[in-house]
Amino acid sequence: MPKTYPNVSEDYKKAIEKARRKLRGLIAEKNCAPIMLRLAWHSAGTFDSQTKTGGPFGTMKHAAELGHSANNGLDIAVRLLEPIKELFPTISYADFYQLAGVVAVEVTGGPEIPFHPGRVDKNEPPPEGRLPDAAKGADHLRQVFVTQMGLTEKDIVALSGGHTLGRCHKERSGFEGAWTANPLIFDNSYFKELLAGKKDDLLQLPTDQVLLSDPVFRPLVEKYAADEDAFFVDYAHAHMRLSELGHLTVLLEFSEGSARASGPPVIVKFESIRVGVALLLSSSWFISHRLIVESDCKQVVGWIKGSVDPPSVFASRARGITADILEKGFILCLVSRCCNVQAYLLAKKGIG
Ligand code: HEM
Repeated sequence: MPKTYPNVSEDYKKAIEKARRKLRGLIAEKNCAPIMLRLAWHSAGTFDSQTKTGGPFGTMKHAAELGHSANNGLDIAVRLLEPIKELFPTISYADFYQLAGVVAVEVTGGPEIPFHPGRVDKNEPPPEGRLPDAAKGADHLRQVFVTQMGLTEKDIVALSGGHTLGRCHKERSGFEGAWTANPLIFDNSYFKELLAGKKDDLLQLPTDQVLLSDPVFRPLVEKYAADEDAFFVDYAHAHMRLSELGHLTVLLEFSEGSARASGPPVIVKFESIRVGVALLLSSSWFISHRLIVESDCKQVVGWIKGSVDPPSVFASRARGITADILEKGFILCLVSRCCNVQAYLLAKKGIG
């Protein structure tokens, strides 16, 4: 399913590409890919899908968030990035920090991660305590990644592969050592080392080790250790979604065929859409930000966008749906096909 992201100007896109080149240079010069990846991940990983707070919105630059104990040492990354950020005043910190994470993976030999600009900076840092605790187990990882952030169990394993880069520093986290023998190369060696067992000169955190003991996680560890390409595909997808948590994405797409009828669609159709949207909003699946509503009413799409003044009988409902969509910031996809059945099935089955 294609997505449409917030519109940004051509100038903004050019600035992003130029910043990307500057970031490549900085990361190569300072060998700082690991801490840049950690910065991007810690920025995004505070997202709470229930309250729609936290997430990759540039708040890490504030002393309050840098002061969270999980972020010890990230002031170094923020400081390293500042001279480049100053060259691009139009780019949001939100986009800039996520771009740094994407570039860090790319320049160390990892997969290319699609980057969609348009995040807007927020002022309010998230409360402390939303990032995972390395001393805890599988339930905790599921609570943070799946329940809180709205990602999947597969994402937990793929993203843990980020520990192919970098190391722990005693003075920052209390742990010491690298996960792999080549901590400046992004490859699948994290998973190979995990399966190989503990070695004196390498480290495994308790949250790394639970990937081996958990029956859902372990097969993925084995798969990624055996097949780097499979790891790269899943990692790139998971990283992209991590970097886009809470990133408002509205997709409006409909077939030309649906434009044939003129005038307002019958109220039954509109009611179906309303019911479909309401069902999805109330489903637990909606929190994963992949809401898909299917509709074959181009006119309704127009009304929801507010470009046409709808007849009064529909007006308040159209406004209600629009408000829900904007307030909750999820992906809305309006495509041609029958609306209520598809929406109902998706809500029931929780298909992603
Ligand atoms: C699964 C839960 C996770 C836990 C409990 C965890 C914990 C930690 C800890 C304790 C450190 C050491 C920090 C230091 O002492 O400098 C660290 C470093 C790091 N983490 Fe994670 N992490 C997790 C997930 C992730 C994810 C999802 C990514 C990226 C996709 C990531 C990327 C990194 C990187 C690149 C470093 C190295 C930083 C450096 O060398 O300066 N981590 N992590």
